[in-house]
Amino acid sequence: MNSSSSGMWSSRLIFILAAAGSAVGLGNIWRFPYVAGENGGGVFVLAYLLCICVIGLPIMIAEIVLGRAGKNSPIASMTILAKDSGTNPAWQIIGWMGVVAGFMILSFYSVIAGWALAYFFKMVQGVFVSIDALNANRVFEDFIGDPYRLVFWHTVFMAITIFITSRGVDQGLEKAVKVLMPGLFFLLILLLTWAVSSSGHFLEGLSFLFSPKPQDFSGNSVFLAMGQAFFTLSLGMGAIMAYGAYLSKSAGIVGSALTIGGLDTLVALLSGMIIFPIVFANGLEPSAGPGLMFVSLPLAFGNMVAGQIFGAIFFLLVSLAAVTSAISISEPAVAWLAERGKFGRPTSSYIIGLFAWVLGLGSAFSFNLMSDFTLLPERSFFDSMDFLSNNILLPLGGILISVFVGWRLKAEILVDQLPNLPRLFWVLLIFSLRFIAPGAIFIVFAMSILK
Ligand code: TRP
Repeated sequence: MNSSSSGMWSSRLIFILAAAGSAVGLGNIWRFPYVAGENGGGVFVLAYLLCICVIGLPIMIAEIVLGRAGKNSPIASMTILAKDSGTNPAWQIIGWMGVVAGFMILSFYSVIAGWALAYFFKMVQGVFVSIDALNANRVFEDFIGDPYRLVFWHTVFMAITIFITSRGVDQGLEKAVKVLMPGLFFLLILLLTWAVSSSGHFLEGLSFLFSPKPQDFSGNSVFLAMGQAFFTLSLGMGAIMAYGAYLSKSAGIVGSALTIGGLDTLVALLSGMIIFPIVFANGLEPSAGPGLMFVSLPLAFGNMVAGQIFGAIFFLLVSLAAVTSAISISEPAVAWLAERGKFGRPTSSYIIGLFAWVLGLGSAFSFNLMSDFTLLPERSFFDSMDFLSNNILLPLGGILISVFVGWRLKAEILVDQLPNLPRLFWVLLIFSLRFIAPGAIFIVFAMSILK
């Protein structure tokens, strides 16, 4: 039993592109700006950057190590590695929690990605040409108020994702990310140029993002920044572990993780630097919530030269970036079901996709039919899924992963996965995994409970 049923990456570069394709997605372009906007900007961004460096990068390295050493789905890999390390088989809980978190994330992710798909078609139709803020808002409100349209686009997005997943992660995905990532960068730079030159509020946007105001500081913003760091780097649920299983032995793990984390952070910061100037220039609320990107960007495109074309390409790229992320969210569950041998890879993908699709209906309806329904106190179904997975399950998974690799994984396995690592990096990595990362996650949890 090994990962050959799902294929191997053909090179280190392809792995980096695939993992970056997993990391870069709605988390960067849609979620980062709106969560930063809701939490005061600067302090949140600072906490987020700290979490990426101190918690995110060591855990990403740990996940790739576990995946490549275990060579199977996260559940099976953890079982094998716990056994080889002579420790408790219960460590496979990391894999199981990942599957649960994956279902929850995939379900609402597909709903929001469906919005991006729908906006691609709206752009093509010219819905936003010369639009003003009021009307851009109205288009969005009308759209999310319509359960049929949300379910339709949720279905389309899930179908695309599952179709690609069913073919194995090595086919299709490679080709997609090679075109997608450069294309996305190009359009972000174009939008940034526009935000700098036309909005007249670029500095205001920058200062919102980068100047921490101490009065905004609360344990809660650090807590949410940590959840965002896990979400944006695809950590804590075995997605990167699953991708690590398809990585060849010769590739360097630490360099790969730094590249992936760097690209991901760059895209998030660029998105914020684009969205906030537009928000301030048009009197929008930075704390507008999940609709932030779907109101501010159409407004910008609607008022720029050839904006209809660029806007259409942009939302297409965002949708595709979401596909490459969604694939990785489903991968731990699909790989697990496929390796059990009852169903082939395609059927496994359909089954996982169907379950996530059903769960996603709750999120789609939470914007209309079920808008008064709360699952957790004061949180809609969508907010509850997002909160439980990103802010609870992923950090918990992160603690377990770092503690396992730092304290339990057999030393030879670790050394074998990280040959030629300079001594300083070793010390830093082990120290982070043993103390800093789990300690920081724990403290942030505690702070948010005691606040
Ligand atoms: N990181 C992706 C984004 O920013 C989402 C994602 C993909 C994810 N795989 C994941 C989030 C695994 C959590 C866990 O959009």
